[in-house]
Amino acid sequence: MTEVPEHLLARSRERRAALGLGGGAAAEPSGGGAAAAPSSATPAAVARSAAPAPIAAAAPAVIEEAKPVPAYLTPAAARRRMPVWIMPVLAFLPFWGILYIGAFGSRDKAEALTGAALGAEVYRAQGCSACHGAGGEGGVGPALHGGEAVKTFPDVADHESWVKTGSAPFRGQPYGAEDREGGQRVATGGMPAFSSLSDEEVAAVVLYERDEL
Ligand code: HEC
Repeated sequence: MTEVPEHLLARSRERRAALGLGGGAAAEPSGGGAAAAPSSATPAAVARSAAPAPIAAAAPAVIEEAKPVPAYLTPAAARRRMPVWIMPVLAFLPFWGILYIGAFGSRDKAEALTGAALGAEVYRAQGCSACHGAGGEGGVGPALHGGEAVKTFPDVADHESWVKTGSAPFRGQPYGAEDREGGQRVATGGMPAFSSLSDEEVAAVVLYERDEL
């Protein structure tokens, strides 16, 4: 048997006595003490054994209450409650679905208008036709048909930048090809800027003016 230091035994006895558990002497492991223990403990142990019961019964209850309840053991009812925002979100879902499909639908429509068709649409809708004529024959603005626009802007990039900028910044100044037949043109500043058009739209209307009119 392992020797238990005397001071530990003493502490154990004190603790048991304090808790009213009795049997302090019976737990004593030392030599012949084991045989003598029951008899030596009798008067005190019997007197104490009546008292411990309620304490022993009450003690575990107190300990149980003090234990913090882990999150995973919280009652199901408490966990089942839905957050307040979930109802509006769920109610919005069908509309979101419609918008989602609608977004694809309109994109398909925009994609259908490309190249010459998009160019013609921009030329008409943006009012180019109002100043340059429905067929590019000219009006307030110079004629663009029959390759006239290409003569002024041999480089497509210059043509595109002209449409985005308009002619106001060039008022009174020559613009376009210097060697244009009949002399370089001079701007009156009467053409508005079309900076709100997308690059794709500008490219389309420029191609339309160069190739289709
Ligand atoms: C409010 C009238 C007006 C509108 C709208 C207009 N333009 Fe013009 N545009 C002009 C005028 C005027 C000029 C000549 C430059 C000047 O006098 O400032 C011109 C010049 C041009 C030229 C150069 C032609 C050349 O050979 O000298 C191009 C190309 C052109 N416009 C394209 C367009 C396009 C593309 C649109 C539509 C997106 C458009 N314009 C809308 C008035 C207009």
